[in-house]
Amino acid sequence: MIAVVNQDECIGCESCPEFCPEVFKMGADGLAVAYTNPVPSEFEEATKEAAEGCPAHCITIE
Ligand code: F3S
Repeated sequence: MIAVVNQDECIGCESCPEFCPEVFKMGADGLAVAYTNPVPSEFEEATKEAAEGCPAHCITIE
């Protein structure tokens, strides 16, 4: 599983690192980045929840 944040659409709400800090973090520019790819299997569920919980719907999972 690969997680990607579309930073053109991220509004910097900081929700995704709350769901899964092992995969998402906030960058210095205030936008989220998925920094753990491929996503380890134990974090796949939390990564999906982060994607579903993103208010900007800008996290894609491949
Ligand atoms: Fe941005 Fe969505 Fe995360 S708006 S900070 S990618 S929850």
